[in-house]
Formats: sequence, structure tokens, C-alpha cells
Amino acid sequence: MMKKRIGLIGYGGMGKQHIKRISESRYVEVTGVYDNDEKKDYSFISKEIKIYDNLESLLANPSIEIILIATPNDSHRDLAIKALASGKHVISEKPVTLNVSELKEILSASEKYNRCFTVHQNRRWDENYLITKKLIEDNTLGDIFYIENRVQGSRGIPNDWRRNVDQGGGMLLDWGVHLLDRMLFLFPNQKVISIHATLNYFLGHEVDDGFKVEVTFDSLKKAYLEVGTTNFIELPEWYVVGSIGSAVIEDFELNGKYVTLTGELAKEAIPIETGAGLTKTMAPRNDDSIKTFPLPSVTSNIIEFYDNFALAIDGQTDLMIKHEELLRLSTLIDACFESSQKNETIKFPNGL
Ligand SMILES: NC(=O)c1ccc[n+]([C@@H]2O[C@H](COP(=O)([O-])OP(=O)(O)OC[C@H]3O[C@@H](n4cnc5c(N)ncnc54)[C@H](O)[C@@H]3O)[C@@H](O)[C@H]2O)c1
Repeated sequence: MMKKRIGLIGYGGMGKQHIKRISESRYVEVTGVYDNDEKKDYSFISKEIKIYDNLESLLANPSIEIILIATPNDSHRDLAIKALASGKHVISEKPVTLNVSELKEILSASEKYNRCFTVHQNRRWDENYLITKKLIEDNTLGDIFYIENRVQGSRGIPNDWRRNVDQGGGMLLDWGVHLLDRMLFLFPNQKVISIHATLNYFLGHEVDDGFKVEVTFDSLKKAYLEVGTTNFIELPEWYVVGSIGSAVIEDFELNGKYVTLTGELAKEAIPIETGAGLTKTMAPRNDDSIKTFPLPSVTSNIIEFYDNFALAIDGQTDLMIKHEELLRLSTLIDACFESSQKNETIKFPNGL
């Protein structure tokens, strides 16, 4: 296959990262860039990439098949619809839009103009997520009851458009769309019956600087998601509780472990003294009934994402990031905002 040509809109932090990654792809290449900042510094861009000084001329170039949108969140909808109407296939950065109704407009345009559309949900390729997924899929921990996933830092929100509500700033739209997207795959074939969210405004910006979200599935199993930007001590990124074991992944460096029953039936617990009390329930297990293991290793390559899009355009495969997944995610993110605003649990009586 000849490499499909990509026109990139937005030459900021993520735009540059896309160019770097796409240079490793066998199926796609970036040949054009447009950014609406006239003072943009292009001194480090490859000579092979043409800089456009307006969007229309980028969209009018027939050799460009794909438009990749890496601009602030409030611009994704209009840019995507314009590019689809110009006959381009489109990849948008996350969060795809600020709400589900805007997403539906893009998906209608994708159908109307018969062009492929997807979203860069790249954190499905994170190793910490893939390790968690492997432990669950291999049934290492038994029946999964509960999963926590959090990301915490102490630097606050970057001082750019991410602090503006009109531009889709805030941590729910930033990290929340990754954490919730992935969590839904860890409870396969289960519907969400309710969601409860609390957004934090500790830093006094107009957008959330962190959040806590509890998701309940129709099996009554639960997921907990948390993002914080005011945490100088971070809690574990992943904590998974199953019927015969638990796993923890502490950090991005993949420190962690899992612990499982060895197969022997649990011996009768002997009550122990803890603090000022006595407990049998919480007595720690002896080493003869549990075993501790290092985390399994996984391999991951984000280039798959771009290659999949090129192959999907030619009808050789299905999109990895599917429209129905995006709709479900966006509906749930809207529900998180509503839940936090009303301080209510949002219920989905028929499951979502
Ligand atoms: N998937 C990820 O891991 C990841 C990581 C970071 C950012 N992002 C997403 O990428 C997008 C961009 O984020 P960023 O960190 O690169 O922001 P940024 O501010 O560094 O860059 C945005 C660029 O877009 C340009 N721009 C703004 N409006 C434009 C328009 N209408 N037309 C053309 N250019 C325009 C700006 O001049 C700027 O150069 C956001 O949607 C963000 O959520 C995704």
C-alpha cells in the first residue's frame, strides 16, 4: 500500500508528538500542517512537510486523504465536520467533543460523506492498562469484583486553554475520557446501570482540577476512577480485586504485584490483636495459602492505531476505536458532569 497522506491541524504539543510517531508508520505519513497561530515556530519541522497558511488550502489538496485534528477541545467538532465534508477521512484528538450531541453531529457527517472517522484513544495502548486487562482475561484473579484506576500529580492544571471551560478544559475531559474508556473494556458484556461523579475545584479555576467517579455495572460490580492534580503523594494507579486474588500497579514505571490463593482452602483464621481491638475477619493470611507474583509483561505499539486507520479506509479491517464505543463513552462523560452538578447518582434503568 502507498502511504496515505495526512494533513495535521494544530502544531502544538500533541501535533508534534503525532508527527514523531507517524514517522514510524508503514502506512501513513504527515505531508501537510496547518496551525492558526501565525507566529508558530516551524524551525524543527521536516522539510518534507508543507506548511499551509490557511485551512482551506490544506483541505483542497487532493493528495491528502486524512486529516488529523490536534487542536484545543472546543474546535474538534467544526474542524472534523469541515474536513469530512471536504472528502477527507478524519482522526480527532480526545476528548472528541465537549458533549455527546456534538459527537452525533460528527458521526452523521461521517455517514453522510461516507468517510472514516475515529478518535485517538491512545491510552488503550498503555502498558499498565494492558497488564490489568491481561490479568483479567487470563482469569488470574478469578471473578473481578472491583477495579480502581487513578492518575495523580501535584502540578495543578497547565496554564493554557485547559483552564477555560469554553475550550473544554478540566481534568474530566482531559484524563477522564481515557480512564472511563478503558474501564468499560475491563467489565466486558456488562452494562452500566449508574454513575456518580464528584468534580473538584480545589484550585479555584472555572474547570475541574480533578474528580472521583464511581461506576456500577448490572452485575453490581464496581469501578472507581480518580484524577487529582494536587497530590504530592500518589496512591496506586491500579488496584484490582477478584474472587481469588488482588493486583496492584503502583505507577507509570509498572512497579506492582499480584497475590492469589494457592488453591488450598483457607485455613481457619486465628483472631489477632490490632490496635486496641481483636479481629478474625482482618487477620492476615499465612504464606501457605497465598502466593505473590510479579506483574506479567505485555508488549504494546501505538503505531497500530494509525496503521489500523489506514487499513480501515481501504476496507481491509474494522476500526479499532469504534463509533458505538465513542457514543457510550461520551454519554457517560455527560452523565458525570450532570451527576457532579446535581450531586446525584445518574441511573440508566435499561443499562448502557
Ligand atoms: N491523546 C493524548 O495523549 C493527548 C495528549 C495531549 C493532548 N491531547 C489532545 O490534543 C489536543 C491538543 O492539545 P495540545 O496539548 O497539543 O495543545 P497545544 O495548545 O499545545 O496545541 C494546540 C495547537 O492548536 C493550534 N490551534 C488552536 N486552534 C486552532 C484552529 N482552530 N485551527 C488550527 N490550529 C489551531 C494552536 O495554535 C496550538 O498550536 C487536545 O484535544 C488535547 O486534549 C491528547
